[in-house]
Amino acid sequence: MKFVIRYGLAALLIMIAIILIVPPFAASLIEQWSQSDVESRSVLAFNSALDDFTSLFEEHNSKRIVALFDRMALDEQLLAVGFCDEQGALLYKTKEMPKNFTCKQATLRKTPTFSTLRLGHSRLLISSFPVATPDEQGHLVLVHDLALVEQRGAEARLWTIVVLVGVVFLAAAFAVLVTVLLARRWLQSLRSAIDDVRLGGSGTMEASDAPPFAGEFRHLLRDLQLTDLAAAGPDLDWSPAMLRNVLTHKLPGAEVIVVSNREPYIHNHKDNQIIVQTPASGLVAAIEPIMRACGGTWIAHGSGSADRKTVDRFDRIRVPPVAPNYTLRRVWISEEEQNGYYYGLANEGLWPLCHMAFVRPNFREEDWHQYELINARYAEAVASEAKSSDPIILVQDYHFALLPGMLRKRLPDATIITFWHIPWPNPEVFGICPWKEEIIAGLLGSSVVGFHTQFHCNNFLDAVDRIMEARIDRERSLVSLGAMESYVRPYPISIEWPPAAMKDQKSVPACRATVRRRLGLADDVRLGVGIERFDYTKGILDRLRAVDSFLTSHPEWQNRFVFVQVAAPTRTKLAAYTELQVEAAELARDINARLGAHCEPIRLIVRHHEPDEIFELFRAADLCIVSSLHDGMNLVAKEFVAARDDEQGVLLLSTFAGASRELTEALILNPYNARSMGVAIEQALLMSAAEQRERMRLMREIVRLRNVYRWAGQMLLDAADLRNRKRIIQIASRRRSSTEILNRVQAR
Ligand code: F6P
Repeated sequence: MKFVIRYGLAALLIMIAIILIVPPFAASLIEQWSQSDVESRSVLAFNSALDDFTSLFEEHNSKRIVALFDRMALDEQLLAVGFCDEQGALLYKTKEMPKNFTCKQATLRKTPTFSTLRLGHSRLLISSFPVATPDEQGHLVLVHDLALVEQRGAEARLWTIVVLVGVVFLAAAFAVLVTVLLARRWLQSLRSAIDDVRLGGSGTMEASDAPPFAGEFRHLLRDLQLTDLAAAGPDLDWSPAMLRNVLTHKLPGAEVIVVSNREPYIHNHKDNQIIVQTPASGLVAAIEPIMRACGGTWIAHGSGSADRKTVDRFDRIRVPPVAPNYTLRRVWISEEEQNGYYYGLANEGLWPLCHMAFVRPNFREEDWHQYELINARYAEAVASEAKSSDPIILVQDYHFALLPGMLRKRLPDATIITFWHIPWPNPEVFGICPWKEEIIAGLLGSSVVGFHTQFHCNNFLDAVDRIMEARIDRERSLVSLGAMESYVRPYPISIEWPPAAMKDQKSVPACRATVRRRLGLADDVRLGVGIERFDYTKGILDRLRAVDSFLTSHPEWQNRFVFVQVAAPTRTKLAAYTELQVEAAELARDINARLGAHCEPIRLIVRHHEPDEIFELFRAADLCIVSSLHDGMNLVAKEFVAARDDEQGVLLLSTFAGASRELTEALILNPYNARSMGVAIEQALLMSAAEQRERMRLMREIVRLRNVYRWAGQMLLDAADLRNRKRIIQIASRRRSSTEILNRVQAR
């Protein structure tokens, strides 16, 4: 806009300058031409009267002289005629001769002269012609009125202004039209060049459409390769194509290996058949679209009852089952190992240690040994899958704290990015872990250690500071432990946009109708949902208590509000989880008995749901409660927002979930305060459609822009930077050592 104002003003000034200069110039030209025309007429009049005048003058016949002058003055522009004698006295003159005219005002020379004179309001042309008789000499003076000349000049000025303004406006309109059309064409061609680069092309433009600076632009595009922009510009549109482009241009030929405990596709036996299941896991929800976009190998625990049956002899299977494009390599873990590594150390030790949910962590020596053993098994699997010496290895989560260190020894040139999907506690809390040094040293085998939030990065740095003999560069978030350097960075995880589960969804009214029919709800009953694994960190009990508090203090909502809690059974071997299930079921029963005379307000559905069902439920709901007591990010909150393309529905989100840092338009709540959560439920139910739309629109924009491709893209860009830096250091050290050898040879 500033640009338009600035250039519009400049154009206006130029136009004013032209109008100030050109019309006066044109007017003066016209006046000059008209005046010289009058002068010629004056000469003509003089010549035609000269003979008569000379003879009458010799006769001194003043009467006839004046009569001759009167005849001459019949010419419409000739105002008056007079005769000045040698002494400058006006001897003869016509009646129209201006009263205050004297011969001194005329230029009396030996040749004809023409001068202008302003008398009163009139401008006059005084033509003087020398006349000589044998006895006397003098000047015949013809006085012309220049009013007509002035009028012509004024008209010329006016018409020049009119024509100029018209021409300038027409030219400006034409220029604007041409510029807009050209700019549109160029922009289109630049946009397709950018898209081409995004998709890995060279960004060339059709010669006919190319703007004049196409060459420079192409170079610029190639230099930036857009991925740099992506790193700098968080608001760029991240997509699978963009992610592929980062891999193609920034990490050409790089091999990507993902390591996680949970596998993306679980094959189970059911009714003499093999069925495929997608686990309820934020990690899987985030990584799967990345693998679909980029390909590569995903190494994970084969936990399904039919998993062994579906792999090849190298324990590999191509997935997704429909349109496979990456390899799932399964790792086998015995029940005893699983009890120690997964249930024991990971989920009874590290999980409660890292989550502020007031469940005591249990650390057992034998669990630690299993944990070490399984980390080593995964290291073996990664080394056997790696086809190059410098793959990019994306290690996922708290099941693999030791793996980065083990991989660093086996594949020293690998770029290892470890992402910790859960919170990292403060150093006091982390300090209770008996293997705190081993865990941190293992993680510092990574090139980058990633967390969801800066807060968790800071906690990790504080723990390193307190526990290890390491150097910490807080400005660069860089930890040096011996020769190893690791960056510690925040990468807020997200979901794919648009989510695959939205593809076949029916309209919101259709989803509402289906879900209501299934639950047996009347049309006027409002619906709240909560969907997660049945985990004590999710605050499921607290949420049920909040519904209780809300309905007890607002009896008018009884039978008019139903809360559906979908909980996928998880880690059921652990007492903390089974106890939670029992307690939640009892609480739901109790609330329903007290407050559900006609319509039970709590519907607890304990089973696994596939993404399609979850999205249908989200679309049917009036509100969604995410009341985690502590959560790294929480992707359920983002999925609810992504499901609501009708821009309706209210998200109630715990302040202790990482997602609350991004989704600030949710109703942010403290899950420990049942009464205030109840108030938030009422606020959500009474919220106007306009306010819901405003909040939902902002949150959808955040989730759209900060999608999972951006999460992975930023990690891959960091990996690319680290690899390049490493290569430069290697080249420099090779050069240094060859120079040293040369110097030594020369010294000998
Ligand atoms: O929150 C940590 C996490 O690993 C998530 O990424 C994932 O959703 C969840 O735990 C899965 O747990 P599990 O694989 O033990 O069922």
